[in-house]
Amino acid sequence: MNHLLLLLLLLAISFLCIAGDATQLVYDTENHEVTSEDSYYVLPVEHGTGGGLRMMFHTWRRCNYLVSQASSETDIGLPVRFVPSNESSGRNILVPTNITVSFHIPTTCIQTMYWHVGYSRLPPLEPHDRVVVGKDEGASYPVPLPSEFVFRIERYNGTMRNGKTKGYKLVSCAGEGPWKDLGLSASENKNWLTMSNSPFVVEFKKAQYPYA
Ligand SMILES: *[C@@H]1O[C@H](CO)[C@@H](O)[C@H](O)[C@H]1NC(C)=O
Ligand SMILES: *[C@@H]1O[C@H](CO)[C@@H](O)[C@H](O)[C@H]1NC(C)=O
Ligand SMILES: *[C@@H]1O[C@H](CO)[C@@H](O)[C@H](O)[C@H]1NC(C)=O
Repeated sequence: MNHLLLLLLLLAISFLCIAGDATQLVYDTENHEVTSEDSYYVLPVEHGTGGGLRMMFHTWRRCNYLVSQASSETDIGLPVRFVPSNESSGRNILVPTNITVSFHIPTTCIQTMYWHVGYSRLPPLEPHDRVVVGKDEGASYPVPLPSEFVFRIERYNGTMRNGKTKGYKLVSCAGEGPWKDLGLSASENKNWLTMSNSPFVVEFKKAQYPYA
């Protein structure tokens, strides 16, 4: 009797642990786990705002880009790769775990296209809270990567205009923190990814190589 009870208890505990882990995982649009070995398009859950996230050339410096939303809804953007900052934490991407985000595409700038929050690295005319990509040719990324390069994926809880309640949002703790949502800010007829009080609610669509 006691043994049975113990067994049941152990079963219950292991079930809870598994359930606990499962809720921590990030899933793609096909309900598969998001991993650091695949690339994903970052798409809006709510339609009517535009397409996926891509890097947008901005005239000021070669190999430096801004993250913006494709204007056309049919443009799924460019694939990104999420990698846990802590290399020992495995291939699955969990909420909330520190990750780096980079566009996973070939460029003439031979470097990882890491995302980071712009802050003081940008000329003074730029808003200081945009998500920027890349670095100058010949320059190196700081080691270890500072908080501007650290992101997390969090669940979004709330009802959107199309009735959907399931989605994710990206957050950053650039500077002193605390973790702040990334959202879209409109200027120059484009939606730019910036620190924001209103999150950009997204889903992740696995990219098939070679990318379209
Ligand atoms: C990295 O992950 C491992 C395994 O989960 C953990 O033991 C270690 O404390 C983590 N390191 C940091 C710096 O968070
Ligand atoms: C996550 O990143 C932030 C910013 O770099 C850092 O302060 C925090 O300690 C990191 N957390 C873990 C668990 O590594
Ligand atoms: C969203 O809901 C999940 C599961 O119900 C919960 O773990 C998480 O803390 C919630 N997040 C926010 C920001 O409310």
